[in-house]
Amino acid sequence: MRKKIIVANWKLNSNIKNISIFLKNLKLNISSYLKYNTVVIAPSTIYLERVYKKINNLNVFLGAQDVNLNKKGAFTGETSILMLKDVGVKYVIVGHSERRLFHNESNELIAKKFSLIKNSYLIPILCVGESKDEKRRNQTKEIIKNQLNTIFELLGEKAFINSIIAYEPIWAIGTGLSADPVYVESINKFIKDYINHYSSNNLEEIIVQYGGSINSKNAQSFLQKPNIDGLLVGSASLDYKEFLEIIKISNDILCK
Ligand code: PGA
Repeated sequence: MRKKIIVANWKLNSNIKNISIFLKNLKLNISSYLKYNTVVIAPSTIYLERVYKKINNLNVFLGAQDVNLNKKGAFTGETSILMLKDVGVKYVIVGHSERRLFHNESNELIAKKFSLIKNSYLIPILCVGESKDEKRRNQTKEIIKNQLNTIFELLGEKAFINSIIAYEPIWAIGTGLSADPVYVESINKFIKDYINHYSSNNLEEIIVQYGGSINSKNAQSFLQKPNIDGLLVGSASLDYKEFLEIIKISNDILCK
């Protein structure tokens, strides 16, 4: 089995004091868990450099939560891909449902950002997933297909090589109600099949994570599934004990 990728998305949370405690404990404990895991931390933009300095020599990678489409210029308040690269970012989350919802990001805009990230040799983590209503109406697969299609249209059949997809059903994010691992396994498999159908990709190269109310109690049931290649962790990733436990669980499953 290949490595699982575990990503911490800190969103608009934490502060200098808590980050320092988190990173101190990460440093003390992480080395033995990295054999079977790739670990990424995505703090708020303002803390990127601070986090990078502490994780760089631990073999833990830096992630950003968003990027602006413009490389430079008069765009007050934004952060460019060049700036992200400059401070050591390797992974960029794109299309998170909170960006889609609160910043009106369309599939088209997200596809352009995805393309910018890839063209800049960073790794996009594309979030896809349906709302509660869409699930109730049985539209999950249709929604995901549309989210993937705009990217295929822009980048062609090789779009999803060197990239990550995170299946994040919107109804499971921040609600404490994670999805059923069996359901997630079937959707992740659907995503892989759909991408393979479109391209001459080898299944092995498509990485599909799950995200939505993951914690140390439920992580195992997801990570055991063959088509769940890792986790995108929100609130539980703010607590170093929780986050380290999730990484340990992932490691233990793979080293068996
Ligand atoms: P959550 O967030 O773990 O707090 O549900 C996940 C995410 O939004 O990526």
